[in-house]
Amino acid sequence: MIDRLKVKNFRGFDSFDVQLQQKNSIVGINGSGKTTLLEAIYYVCLNKSFRTQNNQDLISIGETFFDISIYSKGNEYLRIFYNNELYSKKHYYVNGLKHFWKSKPNVLKALNFSSSVLHEFTNKASVRRLFLDHILSQLSQEYGTIFSEFEKIYVSKNRLLKMIRSGSDEKQLDFYNEKFIRISEKLYNERAKFVDIINCFTYNDKFFVKYIQVSNIDKLKNELKYNKQKEIILGKCLYGPQKDDYHIYFKNKNINNIASRGESKMALLFFLFRVSEYFFENLLDTVILIDDLEAELDDKNSENVYSLINSEINSQIFITSLKQNDRYSNICNILLN
Ligand SMILES: Nc1ncnc2c1ncn2[C@@H]1O[C@H](COP(=O)(O)OP(=O)(O)OP(=O)(O)O)[C@@H](O)[C@H]1O
Ligand SMILES: [Mg+2]
Repeated sequence: MIDRLKVKNFRGFDSFDVQLQQKNSIVGINGSGKTTLLEAIYYVCLNKSFRTQNNQDLISIGETFFDISIYSKGNEYLRIFYNNELYSKKHYYVNGLKHFWKSKPNVLKALNFSSSVLHEFTNKASVRRLFLDHILSQLSQEYGTIFSEFEKIYVSKNRLLKMIRSGSDEKQLDFYNEKFIRISEKLYNERAKFVDIINCFTYNDKFFVKYIQVSNIDKLKNELKYNKQKEIILGKCLYGPQKDDYHIYFKNKNINNIASRGESKMALLFFLFRVSEYFFENLLDTVILIDDLEAELDDKNSENVYSLINSEINSQIFITSLKQNDRYSNICNILLN
């Protein structure tokens, strides 16, 4: 569990130091820094922001560096120091020791949820895939390896198809297709396994996830064999796991098209909680970050989520809210000015 967060020159905070509990509600008016605190936790766990790709945005205006650290059992656990004036700009520490991001020990997982995640998730299959790939990569190093291998092969095959279209020899395509099939099979299996597991976790019977696997491995083999010319003409991969999708159902409504916004949000929150419980059961230390919990939810749904967080979620959780809610004894309010 993270028991303290310290930030320096991070967005609107010149210096901020706060003790944390298992369940935290960050409360404050617009612009008080609620999302910034979630972003700081996310950043130090995953080495990236959920709002920007530009580190400069994260440094308080007029400063040259930011520094984020989180503590566990009273000791510094993770720290990221970023200085845009140094040649080596970013420094990453685990338990006080400097690490390269790539070689760091397996640390804290972070699941992030906000209105923009909801919006993108319900609108784009590519975002849904990315969301799941991201979760699965955090969950299993093996999935992360398979996924990055798949991406490499996918990119090389696309390049090759474009070259063949421009007149290069077709011979290498069979070799690439074989590699593509081997790695696709692994991805299909891992994704299907994960969705089955998530559907076994119960909070609400009215919720389930469907894995929309556009091809199976036999179908894919045939598609690649009989549609080579089509792929060459278009110069890109037309078949495979990059076409997969996930549909989340709530009260038998697919949240991508039928469910209302509030219903979709409830379904995605259930999904997130199930994933976090799965992480918890597998001893993966996880934090859940939910920005603006009450947005889009009516009072009843809001209270349902609060009570779930209060009594059933095992992972450490941070929510943000415009209003203080004192009804739940396990949820500690962090008040911002
Ligand atoms: N690099 C930066 N330097 C200084 N201030 C910044 C920087 N980036 C953002 N801010 C400011 O930090 C403040 C806090 O932003 P944040 O998004 O965390 O607010 P919030 O509490 O989540 O508000 P809301 O309720 O509207 O979502 C804002 O006033 C924002 O303009
Ligand atoms: Mg905000």
